[in-house]
Formats: sequence, structure tokens, C-alpha cells
Amino acid sequence: MHDQHGRIINYLRLSITDRCNFRCRYCMPETGIEKQAHQQILRYEDLLRIARVATSLGIDRIRVTGGEPLIRRGVVAFLKQLSVLPGVQDLALTTNGMLLGEMAKSIFEAGVKRVNVSLDSLNEQSFSDITRGGSLQQVLDGIETAAAVGLQIKLNMVVMRGINDDEINDFARLSLDRPWSVRFIEYMPTIQEPDWQKRLLSGDEVLAQIRHEFNLTPLESSGQCGPSRPFKISGAIGTIGIITPMSNHFCSSCNRLRITSDGLAKSCLLSDETVDLKPYLQRADDCDLQQRIEKIIFAKPSRHTINEAGAVHKPFTMSSIGG
Ligand code: GTP
Ligand code: 5AD
Ligand code: SF4
Repeated sequence: MHDQHGRIINYLRLSITDRCNFRCRYCMPETGIEKQAHQQILRYEDLLRIARVATSLGIDRIRVTGGEPLIRRGVVAFLKQLSVLPGVQDLALTTNGMLLGEMAKSIFEAGVKRVNVSLDSLNEQSFSDITRGGSLQQVLDGIETAAAVGLQIKLNMVVMRGINDDEINDFARLSLDRPWSVRFIEYMPTIQEPDWQKRLLSGDEVLAQIRHEFNLTPLESSGQCGPSRPFKISGAIGTIGIITPMSNHFCSSCNRLRITSDGLAKSCLLSDETVDLKPYLQRADDCDLQQRIEKIIFAKPSRHTINEAGAVHKPFTMSSIGG
């Protein structure tokens, strides 16, 4: 369906857990976060009900996120049920990759065709520092397994000045001999880290660094690109993507609706506004739930204001919504 600004909203992102086996420094504070009580987390049947209602309103693409979605028990059976919902044309997953080695095959068999893997360093020590304890080798092995079973791969690197910006070209190089999309994401101040401006490196700066070493050509955006601006290094098999929520936002073409694992609908990632769908899930039929979701989609804000002077935003951890 269309929102009040004429955008077609056809993409649902379902966060199925706020828990994670990493604690990435750009996502949550070092002390971790207060976890949702188990009884607050939506049951799979409720998530499926929301997905079914959303598809009746024109959603045809679904991405499952977390926290880390693969740590929730029963996720494979859930993915299978989602993939066969009438109207679902594309089912994808965003993951930190730790469990891909053991789960990639069953995810693929459940109907997921694409995985986006968060990978912010190719250096074991720096990877462990950024994720506060993750194992780079296990993630790299997981990505290889995912590719081998037939999953399409996008890699997401959140670029942070002074932390991993010296690895930009190492990441770009990964696109040379792999059919992967290597994406560079501008750091968003979601947890409002003090001095976050110092960390921010713009998409243009990333492109300049890549151009220093490689010959880069812009590509035509396709439906598969999402918010990412695509490029290709001459002779590469894969592509490069630049995601610029801060320096050049893509809100005018945003097609997304998000649901948190505790049932809050959010029509803009960077807005403080949420609507609790749980009361509507207690009703026997879907009428009220459908009307509520219709209203949320219609009222989607035209754009985010997170980098505007004077704008006040509540800090939030990306693990509550999955990016
Ligand atoms: P596909 O197009 O389905 O591959 O998805 P995607 O690229 O949007 O998915 P992914 O989860 O890999 O998102 C990559 C990152 O881009 C997210 O983690 C966010 O950092 C950023 N992003 C994605 N969508 C939005 C959005 O609507 N607004 C903003 N500000 N950032 C977004
Ligand atoms: N800025 C930009 N992207 C972020 N992500 C998480 N936190 C941030 C942030 N502060 C994205 C990462 C990760 C996904 C789950 O969310 O790309 O892959
Ligand atoms: Fe890192 Fe993603 Fe887990 Fe956040 S949810 S700590 S970004 S792996």
C-alpha cells in the first residue's frame, strides 16, 4: 500500500529477538542492555499473524532480524512458515554469521535465499574488540558455508573512523573474486555515544579511499539494492554498496515497516515513535490489527531528523530492531 507521501511500502523487517551473542560497540553500550522479559517477546504464531496481515496490505518482501535471529529456538521452522505465506516473494535474513556454519543449509532449505552478514573487521583482534568477543574465523567459515549452500551474500561493514577505516580497501577487495555485495554503512548515532561525530566517515570518503586503489564504476540501482548505492570495481565478480543514512539519506524511497520482537511497530528506523501491536493480537480476528497496521503505514514520516541540529532523539540499541 501507499503511505501519505506516495511511497509504496512493500518491505517488512521482523525482529524476532533482542538477544545477541555479540555486543558490537556501535550497537549497544559495553554494559549490555536490559533484555526483554521472555513473556514480552512475541510468539512465532503472532509474528506470523502480523506477517500475514502485512502481506494482505501489499508487503511482498520480508527480512528477519534480531538481535541475532539465529539464536532463537525454532527459527528454522518459523522461516519455513514465513516463506510459504502467500504473497511472500523474497525472504532474507540479517545475521552476525556466528551460527551460519551449522545453520546455513537448513535456513536455505527453509526458503531463505539471501543473507546479509555484519562483518566489521578482517583482523581477528579488531573483530573481537568491535564485537566484544566474537570469533572472526567462525564468522568467515560461516559465510563460506552459506555461499556454498547457495545463499546470496551481502556483507555489511559499519565504517568507524579510527576503528576500522584502515580496512576499507581490504573489504572492497573481497568483491573481486566473490559474487558478493560488500556494503559500507555510515555509522548512525543510535546509542548516542559521546563524540559520535568523530567516528562518522561519510560514504563519499569511503568511495574516495576505494578509488585511490581501484577503478570504480557506478551501477544502475536495482530492486535488490535497498538503500545501498551500487558500484563495481573493474573486473570484479561482486559489487560494492554505499549506504549513507547520515550524509545523504534515502528516506524519499523508503519502502520499510519494522516490528520489534516485543511487538512494537516502527515505520521509521530513526523515529522515536512506536505503536504497540500486542493489544490487537489479543483479539480473535485480524480486523483491528489490519486497520492499525494500515494507519501506521499511512502515517510513516517523510524522513528522519537524527542528524539535524537541535533534534532530540531517545537513544536505542540497534539490537532491539535489527537495523
Ligand atoms: P536488502 O535491501 O533487503 O538487502 O536489505 P538492507 O540492505 O536494507 O538490509 P540490512 O539489514 O543489511 O541493512 C543494512 C543496514 O542499512 C542496516 O543495518 C542499517 O544500518 C541501514 N539501513 C537499512 N534500512 C534502513 C533505513 O530504512 N533507514 C536507515 N536510516 N538505515 C537503514
Ligand atoms: N550505525 C549503522 N549501522 C548499524 N547497525 C547496527 N548499529 C548500527 C549503527 N549504529 C547495522 C549493522 C548491522 C545491522 C544489524 O545493523 O549493519 O549489520
Ligand atoms: Fe552486533 Fe548485530 Fe548483535 Fe548488535 S545485534 S550486537 S550489531 S551482532
